[in-house]
Amino acid sequence: MPTLPYILGLITLAKILVVTSGKGGVGKTTTSAAIGTGLALRGHKTVIVDFDVGLRNLDLIMGCERRVVYDFVNVINGEATLTQALIKDKRLENLYVLAASQTRDKDALTQEGVGKVIDELSKTFEYVICDSPAGIEKGAHLAMYFADEAIVVTNPEVSSVRDSDRMLGLLASKSRRAEQGLDPIKERLLLTRYNPERVTKGEMLGVEDVEEILAINLLGVIPESQAVLKASNQGVPVILDEQSDAGQAYSDAVDRLLGKDLAHRFLDVKKPGFLQRLFGGRE
Ligand SMILES: Nc1ncnc2c1ncn2[C@@H]1O[C@H](COP(=O)(O)OP(=O)(O)O)[C@@H](O)[C@H]1O
Ligand SMILES: [Mg+2]
Repeated sequence: MPTLPYILGLITLAKILVVTSGKGGVGKTTTSAAIGTGLALRGHKTVIVDFDVGLRNLDLIMGCERRVVYDFVNVINGEATLTQALIKDKRLENLYVLAASQTRDKDALTQEGVGKVIDELSKTFEYVICDSPAGIEKGAHLAMYFADEAIVVTNPEVSSVRDSDRMLGLLASKSRRAEQGLDPIKERLLLTRYNPERVTKGEMLGVEDVEEILAINLLGVIPESQAVLKASNQGVPVILDEQSDAGQAYSDAVDRLLGKDLAHRFLDVKKPGFLQRLFGGRE
């Protein structure tokens, strides 16, 4: 009979969640910051890990860039411990960031090294969010390899949808779960930078079009919004801007991730109300 501690040792507490896309500039880092913050806001101990070696964007969007002393690569190389490298968020108790290295070469991340760090994080965190770099090469592969769940960030354009489709193929075949014959990575679609007006004009694909092509569960639709740029310039994840449409859409997505069944919002062209037409309103 295996002992209880042995059994508990086999159960990893954490969910490893990759935010991926194939294409760059679609909103992965914005999404990683928003979803990670949303999970922490709801009481889940969460770490967001920046896999984008060389770029290091996540710490800027999270507003902790001045507090980066050690990074992911330092931990892999044994130059720092995880405790030294984890940056605790100043706003939220349950939120941490592991920054990417800005200077090292792209080969600094190894599968063995990443696996060790993820396993160690899994012991203390409920959610490990892996912010993937663009492309389908090594960095993106390592970001998704250990995942249990994937958020596939897609813009409503043909090129983005095509890249996401390729990424779905990789998630199904080139992951730890696939190699070990476990249940496949649970894939969810997050449509970002959605602009209903441009969809109506036929300049962008509609939600149904993208859902039909990719045929995965829709986690959310995030509108194209000025609030995103404003938030990232201030180092505040947009989900903390509760007045903004994008912040609210991310908040719904986090609730859906946690099992709530909410209707999708912000899908239609906004018709300004009488007062808004008179005085103008915020986006
Ligand atoms: N919903 C949105 N509305 C407007 N701009 C957005 C939105 N999501 C992302 N962006 C902008 O798109 C750019 C790329 O976003 P980012 O999250 O860095 O993408 P990625 O990590 O996929 O490269 C940034 O300038 C960001 O502010
Ligand atoms: Mg990014």
